[in-house]
This record gives sequence, structure tokens and C-alpha cells, in this order.
Amino acid sequence: MKLLVTGGAGFIGSNFVLHMLRTYPELDLVNVDKLTYAGNLENLKSLEGDKRHRFIKLDIGDSAAIERLVGAELPDAVVNFAAESHVDRSIEGPEVFLRTNVLGTLSLLEACRKAGTPVFLQIGTDEVYGSLGEAGSFTEQSPLQPNSPYAASKAGADHLVRAYGKTYGMDVRITRCSNNYGPFQFPEKLIPLMLTNALEGRPLPVYGDGLNVRDWIFVTDHCRALDLVLQKGKPGEIYNIGGVAEKTNLEVVKTILAAVEADQSLIRFVEDRPGHDRRYAIDSSRLRGELGWVPEVDFGQGIALTVRWYREHESWWRRIKSGEYRQYYEKMYGKRL
Ligand code: NAD
Ligand code: TYD
Repeated sequence: MKLLVTGGAGFIGSNFVLHMLRTYPELDLVNVDKLTYAGNLENLKSLEGDKRHRFIKLDIGDSAAIERLVGAELPDAVVNFAAESHVDRSIEGPEVFLRTNVLGTLSLLEACRKAGTPVFLQIGTDEVYGSLGEAGSFTEQSPLQPNSPYAASKAGADHLVRAYGKTYGMDVRITRCSNNYGPFQFPEKLIPLMLTNALEGRPLPVYGDGLNVRDWIFVTDHCRALDLVLQKGKPGEIYNIGGVAEKTNLEVVKTILAAVEADQSLIRFVEDRPGHDRRYAIDSSRLRGELGWVPEVDFGQGIALTVRWYREHESWWRRIKSGEYRQYYEKMYGKRL
């Protein structure tokens, strides 16, 4: 089996690449990533010398190059993780989100259509459904009501993927997962930001009243779900993926502080995020019932594993936070971040 993975130097993508190569000894994996600020080849260091993995630095929006690559490699499946992924950045500058998340996905779909790629798997997010009140959860039939430019761009991508399935008869599959955490997550997202700030004794900025709810999933459980959807999923189907770990942000932050034995006085309530979704909760009964998926890592275990990883990989996050990563990147690639 040959897989073409995009965004495989980012957080979930690199975890997925490592998971798949660990699980399938015969796998041939082509990893395409533009290496934006969020892409980091250090995440793939353990694969050095592994001939089953080939890394190609490329923008998924470069449609001519993507078409050539997909046409030459003829993968059995394309798995699209590549995206701009941070809500706060999308509020500051939405354009690149539309370019990568919508037009980049279009460029991949077109290349796959022309090459006759057997399966296209789009990695989506529960944020496309918008915000919930106190009760209920998102099913695959919930209406798409994105509230941030990031969520809107991911919803646009999902619509395009679906349309390529309907119009051109392609086998397209979409997953929509809740908030991930674990090793290699860029420290701009809630859990690694709070964890590394706590380790450094810096303040933890909690937006608004801290009572917004997210459903947290450990990244390897997400990767296992994606593997199942690739192997056993149905064409044209959407699969919600959730961790059954609904927590307020304040609960998450307090759990982290307790885990690293840091003081709660580090918490700072700051101005709320505009358009801040109040609550996400995901119903993943289709994935459980049809494909037999169950999450293996509960929130307590996941936080313990994450804390251990960030403690053991201090140079990884310190370089990013101190700006050294930026200098390393500019030296390696001759370009500014
Ligand atoms: P990330 O920001 O850590 O990684 C994104 C990767 O995509 C980076 O390696 C980056 O260099 C690459 N990339 C960005 N623009 C590109 C382009 N134009 N061409 C090629 N590569 C490009 O993001 P993540 O958290 O790993 O998320 C991966 C995917 O999963 C995204 O599609 C995201 O929407 C989705 N998702 C994330 C979460 C979450 O909690 N993090 C939850 C559900 C879904
Ligand atoms: P984030 O990790 O950015 O994921 P998303 O917005 O995609 O769910 O944020 C998770 C939650 O944490 C969200 O409710 C916003 C909140 N948050 C803070 O309170 N402070 C922060 O510094 C960050 C980055 C997020």
C-alpha cells in the first residue's frame, strides 16, 4: 500500500505518519508538507534512514506540482492533514486559511481526480458544526455553522470533498475530530501552551470565564480512528471522532497545574476570543458501531503521557518558544517564517 500524506510534519500528521509506519511494515509513505511555522522535521527524526518514508517539501496549493506528484506516485490513498489550524491566527489573518484549507484541498482533489486515486481522506474538525448549548452533541447530520474563519475554511473544504464524491464518483471520506492533544503539538494551542508556561513558571492566559467546553482526545486515538476509516470506511461517508472527555478550559488548566505541581496563582483571566464557541461535544457512535473504534487513552492518562513527553523533550518546545526554531528554520530553508 502506498499512502500520500499531506501536512505530515505537523502535530497530528506526524503522529499519524509514525503510527502507520509502526503498524504496517510494508507501507510506502510519501509525506508532503510546506513546512510553515507549524511544520517541523524534528517530529520525523526517528524516521531518518527509513526508506519507506519520503519527505517532499511542497505547498498543496501548487496545483501543477501536486498534479505531477500524484500522477507520478499513483498512491492508493491521499490523506489530507495540511491546513492552517489555529483559530486565533485565523482571526488575525483569514486569507491564508482560505488559500490552504480550501484552494489547497481543491488542488489535491483535482490531482486525485485526474490520477484516479482510489481513496481521498479529508481530515476535518468538529468546529465546522459551530457551538452547542449546555446539552446535546454533534452528529454527522448536524448542520455546518462555522463561527471562525478557520472553521469556515474547513467547512468549505468539507463541502468541496463531498461535491467531488457526488459529481465525479470519487471515493471520498471525511472525518471530523474533536480537540487533540499529545506529543509534538505546537505550543500555541491550549494544552501545550499552558503546560509549557506552567513548566516555565509563566502566567496561563485563560480566555473569558474559562468555562468554554472542549471534548479532548489523545492524538494516538485519533490516528487509530483514521487508520480504521482508511481500511474499512465507506465511500462518501463522514465519521465523527470524539474522546468522551468534555472539560471546561479551567478544568484542563487546573489538571495541568496539578500534574506539574505548579501554583494556581499562575492563572490569568484575559479578554475573550471573538466569536468564541461555548461548547463542543461529539457523538462518535457511527465510528464505534460500524468500525468498532474505542478510545484507549482516558484524559488522566493522556495528560500524564503529555506532561512526560514535554518534560522529556524540553529542547523541542524551548526552541520554538524562544524563537530559536525560527532561526533554525530560516537557516535550513533560506526563508523567513
Ligand atoms: P498543525 O498546524 O500542527 O499542522 C499542519 C501541517 O500542515 C504543518 O506541518 C504545516 O507545515 C502543513 N501545511 C500548512 N499549510 C500547508 C500547505 N499549504 N501545503 C502543505 N503543507 C501545509 O495542525 P494539526 O493540529 O496537526 O492539524 C492537522 C489537521 O487536523 C488539520 O487539517 C486540522 O484542521 C485537523 N484537526 C485538528 C484538530 C486539533 O485538535 N489539532 C482537531 C480536528 C481536526
Ligand atoms: P485551542 O487550543 O486554540 O483550540 P480550539 O479553539 O480549536 O478549540 O483552544 C482551546 C480552548 O482554549 C478554546 O476554548 C480557547 C481556549 N484558550 C484559552 O483560554 N487560552 C489560550 O491561550 C488558548 C490558546 C486557548
